[in-house]
Amino acid sequence: MTTTIEAPAHVPPALFWDHDPNVFAQEMDDPFLAISRLHDGPDIIWAAQAGRAKRGAWLATRHALVQEIFLDPVRFSSLDSSGVQTQLGVDWKLLPLEVDPPEHGDYRLILQPWFQPAAIKAMEAGMRRGAEEIIASFEDRDGCEFISEFAQLFPSYVILELMNLPRDMLPTFLKWESAFIHAKSIDERAVAVRKIASYMADFLEERRRGPRRDDVIQAILEAQIRGRPLTQAEIMGLTMILYTGGLDTVLSSLGWYFRYLATDQALQARLRENPQDIPQVVDELLRAYGVVGRPRTVTQDMVFHGVEMKKGDVVMAPGWLAGRDPHQYPDPHRIDPDRKPRHLTLATGPHNCVGSHLAKREIKIVLEAFLSRFENIRLAPGETASWQTTGVWSVTRLPLVWDRIQA
Ligand code: HEM
Repeated sequence: MTTTIEAPAHVPPALFWDHDPNVFAQEMDDPFLAISRLHDGPDIIWAAQAGRAKRGAWLATRHALVQEIFLDPVRFSSLDSSGVQTQLGVDWKLLPLEVDPPEHGDYRLILQPWFQPAAIKAMEAGMRRGAEEIIASFEDRDGCEFISEFAQLFPSYVILELMNLPRDMLPTFLKWESAFIHAKSIDERAVAVRKIASYMADFLEERRRGPRRDDVIQAILEAQIRGRPLTQAEIMGLTMILYTGGLDTVLSSLGWYFRYLATDQALQARLRENPQDIPQVVDELLRAYGVVGRPRTVTQDMVFHGVEMKKGDVVMAPGWLAGRDPHQYPDPHRIDPDRKPRHLTLATGPHNCVGSHLAKREIKIVLEAFLSRFENIRLAPGETASWQTTGVWSVTRLPLVWDRIQA
């Protein structure tokens, strides 16, 4: 094959791969199987069309390397890892996501208490009510389009509740979400992110003037770092991560899980009869469907696992490869309800997902809510699911049918 892009001088020809992994993943019916073809090659490759603006990035194909990258913020920096500042031109960055230790810990400490298991338990009844309300809108039918009728709505309900935003904000939230996440061009995304940020800035101002509430927003507004109050940019960064971290990830994950579940009647029956197995299956689904590939920037010229890297190189640590690595998981493409895996879908190291307990609880509640009402959940006859692999890998349409369980 003739390549159109030249390898940087330090990239050996054997590691040069003239592809965009997200496009490569679309070559089969199942993107996780398609991308897993990379497991047959080197542990780390230079993907010439990966990374921001397709400028090329190292791609770790092995679980062990992805883990090492997450655990090493000294050599692999998270600065500017979302591109909101450099690409979308806003004057804040996502916090704590885009700072390295030790500053990272200051921001993380502000959010962390609101995401501990006890705090999430306190949210559980509200989340369950949210799921039930949404399901009530199609409960008397024999199916639904799972993505638009459920998966898009539920994580927004949860984040509205977490931030104490009014329920009637839901349609606006959804409109933003679709503009921010699905906009085709950087310009469209920039417009969308400014709209969201402008609303959030007004909302934060209202909260400053209004009565105190015992929630994460109050904690952000009142937080101090080493004896000083936060700047407006820091407050925006901490607020916006709740929005960007907690919506699309859960929506996308739920899409893959239900697409899979619709093919596995035995698993549905097992979980209906043994709901105590749901948490371990949530981890197995998380493992198998790693929806994000996070970037890091190399901080110094170095050799990593025999590969020469230059300061400024971008390295991708993809969940979609780590979770399917045959060196880590025997029979990695099989969903094994008894596997009880440790996985990297919620990352590890200093930036491991703050929302991990919340995400797992949301998924558990959704599985319980569907499996207790419907059985034989399956793809609607003659229909196919649609999905995409740009940004967060997600199912975009999933028409399901089921048999209703008689109360
Ligand atoms: C299945 C759903 C989710 C997935 C797959 C996911 C995945 C991840 C990953 C891979 C990271 C690490 C990013 C990095 O190291 O660069 C991360 C960080 C983060 N996530 Fe999640 N996440 C999910 C749900 C949530 C939820 C529900 C929230 C809460 C609103 C949340 C909030 C955050 C925050 C604040 C960070 C930054 C942590 C830090 O930088 O210290 N996530 N998430």
